[in-house]
Formats: sequence, structure tokens, C-alpha cells
Amino acid sequence: MPIDYYYTKYSTLLNERSQRILTNIVEQERYAERPIGELSLRTFLSSDVLVTSQGVKDCMTWKGKPLYKSVYDFSLFPIMIWDIRPKTIIEIGSGEGNSAIWMDDLCKMYEINCHIHSMDLRKAKVRKRKTLTFLEGNSNNIEKTFSDLSLYPHPWMVIEDAHVNVTNVVNWFSAGTLIGDYLIIEDVRGSKMDELNKWKSQRTMMIDRHYMDYFGPNATSCLILTKR
Ligand SMILES: C[S@@+](CC[C@H](N)C(=O)[O-])C[C@H]1O[C@@H](n2cnc3c(N)ncnc32)[C@H](O)[C@@H]1O
Repeated sequence: MPIDYYYTKYSTLLNERSQRILTNIVEQERYAERPIGELSLRTFLSSDVLVTSQGVKDCMTWKGKPLYKSVYDFSLFPIMIWDIRPKTIIEIGSGEGNSAIWMDDLCKMYEINCHIHSMDLRKAKVRKRKTLTFLEGNSNNIEKTFSDLSLYPHPWMVIEDAHVNVTNVVNWFSAGTLIGDYLIIEDVRGSKMDELNKWKSQRTMMIDRHYMDYFGPNATSCLILTKR
């Protein structure tokens, strides 16, 4: 089925401006090299939808446990993991550990041989798994916990979800990336973008518009970068 099948079938329901924006998404270059400061995070999602997309009374759950993802990212991550087939996932900010468990379950379902390393100030208290390591560490000393990046087989998916020392964290990991690796920076709306704009070597990574615009322009909480 062509990628624009659903859109072309229903596009006449949309006003002209929306049709133009979505046509542009279908036709645009996938990888965009653009300074983060020039990146617009304009979206079709109203702030009501953005705020409620992680749940209202309760947050999203995986196997009954809290998972801090929007419904959009809950759909996007499985697609990305399938496509990227990471050998290493590094998550900065484990929370209660359930996002790492969710990704580990996805890798198992997909039969992808991947090891997940998830770091937080305190190790998440969940049952041990062979393919999942919870680490105690601090984003302010990221180079201490992940001192030797050559230990982690590629492709990588590195997910920044602690929102601390973000520029140095992405800088540290981006220096070790190879072609096909991904850096996913969560919850970028607001001050995090200003901080990222100070990241000097941001041009070493490209924005993957395919994922960022998957459900319409910027319908994700994440900035999704890849090395090409
Ligand atoms: C948004 S939560 C992570 C949610 C989780 N990844 C998920 O999707 O369910 C952010 C986490 O970052 C952790 N955190 C805050 N400051 C940190 C730091 N300096 N270093 C490492 N982790 C930190 C917090 O303890 C918290 O668990």
C-alpha cells in the first residue's frame, strides 16, 4: 500500500491549507539538515490534544504499569524499533522502568537482538531481565556512566528523557554515532529547544521528518535525529 494511501483517500475532507501541508509531508525530503533554532514545532494538535494525549485520569500504561508516552509516541516507537532494528537502546531517565520494559518486550516480539541500558538517579526496581540493564547514574556526569561508547553495538537508539544537562548528553552520544543511529529527545516543546539550540555540533545529525511528521506535522513529543 503506498504511504499516502490513507491521506489521498480522505484529503478532500480537509481545508486547503491542511491539504497543502499534508501534501508537502508526502513529498518532502525525508532527512532535513536544519539548525534546531530554525525548526518549527507547529502541529495540527491543539494544546488540549497534546496535553491529554498522555492520559487524563491516569497516564498511559504498559501491562498495567505507568508509561510516560503520548498516544502518538506509543504508536511511533514500535514502528521505529522495527525499522531501525537497534542492537543497543540507551534510555536516559528510566522513570519506573516501564518504558524500558515496553521496548524490551517489543524487541522480543520482533525477534530483534538488542540490549537496553536505562539510566536514572536510582535504579528502577523491576525484575531482572537478560536483555535489560538498569543503571544508576546522573545526566550531569553522563560520561561517567557511559564512559566507553565502543562497548555498545550499533545501530543505536538513544532516548533522552531525563531533561537534565540535555545539550551535553546529546553531544556526548552524538559523538559516538554511526550512520543509521538515532537520537530521540523527548518533550522538546518549551525551554528544552532553547537549550538544544546551544548544542554546537547539532549539524552532525539530521532531522528525520518521516517519523516526526508521521501523524501530521510534528505530531510527536520528540525531536528525532539520525546520522546519515
Ligand atoms: C519523564 S521521567 C522518565 C519516564 C520514562 N522514560 C517513561 O517513558 O516512562 C524522567 C526521569 O528522569 C530522571 N532524572 C531526573 N534528573 C536526572 C538526572 N540528573 N540524571 C538521571 N536521571 C534523572 C527522573 O528520576 C525521572 O525518573
